[in-house]
Amino acid sequence: MASNGNDNCKANDSVWQFKGNGATSDAAAVTLRKLVFGMFKNCKFNNGKTILPSTTHSFKTCPEAEEAVAAAVRSGMANSYAPSPGIFNARRAVADYLNGELPTKLRPEDVYITGGCNQAIEIVIDSLAGNPAANILLPNPGYPHYDARAIYSGVEVRKYDLLPERDFEIDLDALEAAADKNTAALVLINPNNPCGNVYTYDHLKKVAKMARKLGIVVISDEVYDQVVYGERPFVPMGIFASIAPVITLGSISKGWVVPGWRIGWMAINDSNGILKQAGVIQSIEDCLDLTPQPSFILQEALPEILEKTPKEYFAKKNKAMKRNVELSFERLRDIPCLFCPKKPESCSYLWLRLDTSVLDNIENDLDFCTKLVSEESLVLVPGVALGAKNWVRISIGTEESELQETYDRLKSFYDRHAISKEAIKPNGHPTVNQRVVAVI
Ligand SMILES: Cc1ncc(COP(=O)(O)O)c(C=O)c1O
Repeated sequence: MASNGNDNCKANDSVWQFKGNGATSDAAAVTLRKLVFGMFKNCKFNNGKTILPSTTHSFKTCPEAEEAVAAAVRSGMANSYAPSPGIFNARRAVADYLNGELPTKLRPEDVYITGGCNQAIEIVIDSLAGNPAANILLPNPGYPHYDARAIYSGVEVRKYDLLPERDFEIDLDALEAAADKNTAALVLINPNNPCGNVYTYDHLKKVAKMARKLGIVVISDEVYDQVVYGERPFVPMGIFASIAPVITLGSISKGWVVPGWRIGWMAINDSNGILKQAGVIQSIEDCLDLTPQPSFILQEALPEILEKTPKEYFAKKNKAMKRNVELSFERLRDIPCLFCPKKPESCSYLWLRLDTSVLDNIENDLDFCTKLVSEESLVLVPGVALGAKNWVRISIGTEESELQETYDRLKSFYDRHAISKEAIKPNGHPTVNQRVVAVI
């Protein structure tokens, strides 16, 4: 029967007694997605260019991984719900994958399968939020999903700096000063996004000793463990678990270039049973009961992915990354508003200081990135999104042709916005260009 119109409800009727949860807005406000997509809002996109970085030219995954997923689908064995901690074979395969250099080997039951590394971050933070006054130490710059989830779970965020002049080592004095009796954990990102460094054995040992001194757990985010192309080897933090408990987070998103597959893990390196004693393991298992399990298909495929991917796949990709770093440094010589203090040896980014003093009418990193998207359809992450003002992050995990196009667009943007030479003060700072030459 047709409505007479009087039954229609209105948004502003006073009868409605529900409203949105403001806490989600506070947490989402600091996410990378919110900030980057916010830049698109005022874009006109009338420059006729496709948006970069594209997904079409990024590195491809290996056929072994694709085959493993196809076989899992065809097997018909992965159509039901998986157990909350993950299926045994996947947990066993991740333990084997991580065990290489660990003095105390992980057992399958020390591993939990998650929906990518991000879900592992969410679960570990929720599990440590028992004390209402809890705080967590996060790196600056860092990966904002930690901040967002801590805010969402009511855990206070405290920052410690990474030091550009010391290979982005952790400022351990600042870290110690930031901690107090309510500090639950420190987060370490190694290999490091966005700085592109890899921590030495000695530095990691100092971090473990500091964690022991402070009585806190180390959360080691090793999601980029397969994206290492410098001289320095990657050292897993789990090696130091006899000094302080370590929760290792990882996934196949970066190494296998399949972030959309959403499969990752959390491994408990705690041979002394400290986390169990504190009830953290129980909390992790409870949290896993509360959330949807990651796809059974991907869990079924995971052992084959981890065991059958040839080392040459990573070697080839990392060699290409190294070439991309060299190409980037070459091209940055002509873009003097950007300065990279350290050649990355891992991950797929360049972390660059932005010098707004050589640019006309660019206020800061966010302004730079917003205008760049609008004029060139080129997306860079503004440093503020990762905790550092007047830095920017460029993605370089792409084919050479696209990377050249990235720098062509950056150069055009710079040429249009460069301050005229006469306007640069004599006796001022050395130009960024001079500084770039100094570090190559
Ligand atoms: C340091 C760090 N941790 C975790 C993640 C998320 O990984 P995943 O895609 O497996 O959830 C990212 C993604 O960029 C990252 O940079």
